[in-house]
Amino acid sequence: MAYVNGELVAEQDALVSAFDHGLVVGDGVFETVLLDAGRPIALGRHLGRLERSGSGLGIEIPRPDEIRSAVADVVRASGFERGRIRITVTAGNGPLGSARLSARPTLVVAVAPESDPGASSSVVVVPWRRNERGALAGLKTTSYGENVLALAYAHDHGADEAIFANTRDALCEGTGSNVFVVRDGRLVTPPCTSGCLAGITRALVLELVDAVEQDLDIAELDPSRVEEAFLTSSIRGIQPIAAVDGARFADCPGPVTRKVAAAYAELLAANAEP
Ligand SMILES: Cc1ncc(COP(=O)(O)O)c(C=O)c1O
Repeated sequence: MAYVNGELVAEQDALVSAFDHGLVVGDGVFETVLLDAGRPIALGRHLGRLERSGSGLGIEIPRPDEIRSAVADVVRASGFERGRIRITVTAGNGPLGSARLSARPTLVVAVAPESDPGASSSVVVVPWRRNERGALAGLKTTSYGENVLALAYAHDHGADEAIFANTRDALCEGTGSNVFVVRDGRLVTPPCTSGCLAGITRALVLELVDAVEQDLDIAELDPSRVEEAFLTSSIRGIQPIAAVDGARFADCPGPVTRKVAAAYAELLAANAEP
């Protein structure tokens, strides 16, 4: 089942127009929310970020109570305990170019089952850069073509996630994840000015444990330079990085990663709206 513009419909009827500007030029924003033990996790924070992405791209986001009730309906109809809830809002129907009509936005809420994330991930640094000064930096838009290409590159190189540096050769983020490293015993993650998405899992980690936001050279992701590294995302949670460009960490998961993962699991078990 999916919710499309006010109606709960079966998957084969979950359709949008061929003129939808989200389809035509990627003129849309979205959120991916974890469904865990039948509970959408941090939905309030996700709706806040959806509103910020919409305001950055100039798309009016439907009221939070409409989205909340669509999420509840879709989850109930699915019967899933664990899954990935996708909330997409596009600019609605538009012309076949970049200009926009003042159309009613399209709202789609869908859910798919999700298996547990792997115990660790191998990553590769891709040759392309995130543009931390681009118009879409920090917005979660449906223009994800660069991520599609980068993730395919990672898979072609036997890795699970692709890591971007930005135009200043600083560590930025993964295609669907933020990155933390442990350097000289301190937990460090790139600041949002690196061009990364302000991840919700990243924010929860920063609130839970002692960590600093600091620019890191992309070379500092190498296992010879840092003791540990992990990815964060709503779906992965806290996922240790086992190897970077084929070089493995000696200890994976290391003690800091284990501590963060345990604190995060405890937080979500106690509270679905952390
Ligand atoms: C580009 C990018 N960075 C980071 C993240 C992690 O964000 P969150 O923790 O909010 O899921 C995502 C999530 O999909 C993402 O797409």
